[in-house]
Amino acid sequence: MDMKESPLLALENATVHYPSSPSPALDGVDVALHSGERVCLTGDNGSGKTTLLLALIGLRPLRSGRLLHHGRTVADTRALFTLRKEAGIVFQHAEDQLFSPTVLEDVAFGPLNIGLTPPAARQRALEILESLGVAVLAERMTHTLSGGQKRMVALATALAMRPRLLILDEPTNDLDAKGRAVLEDYLPRSGLTLLVVSHDERFLDALTTRRIHLMEGRITGGSKGL
Ligand SMILES: Nc1ncnc2c1ncn2[C@@H]1O[C@H](COP(=O)(O)OP(=O)(O)OP(=O)(O)O)[C@@H](O)[C@H]1O
Ligand SMILES: [Mg+2]
Repeated sequence: MDMKESPLLALENATVHYPSSPSPALDGVDVALHSGERVCLTGDNGSGKTTLLLALIGLRPLRSGRLLHHGRTVADTRALFTLRKEAGIVFQHAEDQLFSPTVLEDVAFGPLNIGLTPPAARQRALEILESLGVAVLAERMTHTLSGGQKRMVALATALAMRPRLLILDEPTNDLDAKGRAVLEDYLPRSGLTLLVVSHDERFLDALTTRRIHLMEGRITGGSKGL
């Protein structure tokens, strides 16, 4: 990792307000994520972790501050599109990610959308399900899956787009020991740059190289990576 290179993604003095809330969800946050890092983001419930992840990929507009991709301000939909091709996210709630009738359709949806042929998209989807140890779920109806199964499929949908950076919001929620072990094995080997929110200390120790801590929308601990 070369810290002199522009970070892959960064927020500069970023503030996010939700309309219904008097205090900001993010309050002047500076954070930078460099290629090859595996960063964990911790903080109490409501401290702004999910908001920070969403702001980093442009899904939450900033009231003030800047979002930077490879050192350039993300200022229009074209820049946002380029960013999204490189950065995948797995949402805190797997239901927010899954919308197709079957697992295979859901995982193949993204690859189809970027122009892969149906057989190629299907092949890619099957390979990813296989590498996560859940190929057996391929023909299942998504809405009938268990919580842990949905979480693995949601991860597969993000990986199917072959991102460089993967953002994971509490990825081990609902996972059993076997599912956690699959992630602990797969993610470091994948070479992906990672930003992970988790309360699972063992998982974070196994996976991440740096920590950031949020408190009431402000970074209060760890290293900002700047
Ligand atoms: N859509 C929304 N509308 C209004 N307020 C929101 C919305 N989403 C989040 N908030 C508020 O913003 C603050 C930060 O929420 P956020 O979901 O980012 O926290 P979090 O650290 O991810 O919490 P958790 O550990 O529970 O997932 C909280 O006070 C929350 O109530
Ligand atoms: Mg959250």
